[in-house]
Amino acid sequence: MWEREMAVARQAAQDAGKALLELFGKNTVITKKGDIDLVTEADVRSEKILLDLISRHFPQDSILSEEAGEYRHRPERVWLLDPLDGTTNFAHQFPFFAVSIALEIEKQIALGVVFNPLCGECFHATLGGGAFLNETPISVSRTRTLQDSLLGTGFPYNIHHEPDRVLESFRKFLVRAQGVRRPGSAALDLCYVAAGRLDGFWEEGLKPWDSAAGVAIVKESGGTVTTYEGKPYSPYEKSIIASNPLIHGLVVQALGA
Ligand code: IPD
Ligand code: CA
Ligand code: CA
Repeated sequence: MWEREMAVARQAAQDAGKALLELFGKNTVITKKGDIDLVTEADVRSEKILLDLISRHFPQDSILSEEAGEYRHRPERVWLLDPLDGTTNFAHQFPFFAVSIALEIEKQIALGVVFNPLCGECFHATLGGGAFLNETPISVSRTRTLQDSLLGTGFPYNIHHEPDRVLESFRKFLVRAQGVRRPGSAALDLCYVAAGRLDGFWEEGLKPWDSAAGVAIVKESGGTVTTYEGKPYSPYEKSIIASNPLIHGLVVQALGA
């Protein structure tokens, strides 16, 4: 199902990724939309490529894109676009970033594509169709304990003003997990859970374009995705836990402890 949408999404991710690679490592224009929240020339150029291609193929669909905002057409089909997930990494020439594309149909994420152009890794999934890294099926890890788990997380852009809650969660896993990473691209972090490279991930304050594609990919790879409270996740929720099903209860429990 959704073969045409997936083909367009993958093409858009490839084209946008190519533009990101052309700008990576160059001193391009960087502006700030918050104290520590950047927008680079790469965000804008990648976004234009995504918007052009998707609106040309699906002119009736709505689009919600990080920098450009909303294009409202058919409410039942919404593309959620993050043209550059990992902008802070990109601006510092730290090689970990991605293009993230999801399509929500009638409130369900029908497909997700997350493309890391630096290593040519395209993670993708359609609802009910399984999850893939390039053309190879992927699945979550089978780790059973937090002590054996490598976990990922991220910090919201208001961290300078509200550090306490985030630090408290961070501490809970520092003392329970085998290791904790803050790679800097939530979309890729979720795909790393899907591929079993991370056993779990948690973060609060993500936006729909950060999580939608990655969540579709985690679910199709056998992972469990909820809020911190263990309730079903939607990309409009304030918190997310994504993990293999074997440790999910332990992550929820630890966050509540
Ligand atoms: C950010 C990254 C980061 C996460 C932030 C996001 P951006 O997205 O995904 O890992 O911790 O919460 O906002 O701004 O690079 O697109
Ligand atoms: Ca993002
Ligand atoms: Ca972004």
